Amino acid sequence: MPQVRVHSDSDAAAAAVAHDIADLLITGQKAGRNVVLGLATGSTPLPLYRELVRLHREESLSFRNAVTFNLDEYEGLNGDHPQSYRRYMQVNLFELVDIPRSSTHVPDAVAADPDAACRAFEAAIVAAGGIDLQVLGIGRTGHIGFNEPPSGRHTRTRRVVLDEITRRDNAAFFGSVDSVPRAAVTMGVDTILGARRVALLAFGTAKAEVVRRAFTEKPNADCPATWLQEHSACTYHLDPASASLLKT
Ligand code: PGA
Repeated sequence: MPQVRVHSDSDAAAAAVAHDIADLLITGQKAGRNVVLGLATGSTPLPLYRELVRLHREESLSFRNAVTFNLDEYEGLNGDHPQSYRRYMQVNLFELVDIPRSSTHVPDAVAADPDAACRAFEAAIVAAGGIDLQVLGIGRTGHIGFNEPPSGRHTRTRRVVLDEITRRDNAAFFGSVDSVPRAAVTMGVDTILGARRVALLAFGTAKAEVVRRAFTEKPNADCPATWLQEHSACTYHLDPASASLLKT
């Protein structure tokens, strides 16, 4: 079962995960090794990226040995689109720290050959040595990445159709639900479970029910986050509100 850490608030949770990432980067630098990070987007990881940028500016944390792979990207949005996840990463982290652009990877959701692009993304993760630490959010549908229900245990990077709940939850970023893309490219469940460690962040009462399901349901495709029960080094970083339906 995943470990649970209930923090006093989202900033404290973000600081804990940022600390783990900083440890990995510093240990890697001492050993002359790259560190491979799986990264997430959405509202939830924003305090994490703020803290990582602070560590870079105020405590000289370097990202020169980081290699990153993002979970997902909206179909049809190229990296210049203001709502693309490539742009989100540029604005919230990559342009604010010293990571080389060539070390950052976001799924290509405008490729002429989408299947080949998905295979290339998986191959790049393998070539980098696999993901050391995967950061995750969780959607109210039970999705991790954009693995909407139903998503099986053995899914890999692929095109997915977005759930209407997910499109509504992201409507504010686009101005209206009609502007939210209907599909995306996402790492699969198997890709995520391949990470050596997983840190899932969830904050607020809106996430309490799905967090409860992720822990209490047997692993099943209709609540893809339940597959994390099969990972041996997964920690849920929660605030009191998102943890409120868990029996401790
Ligand atoms: P959110 O999305 O951080 O914007 O709530 C999380 C997710 O959908 O994984």
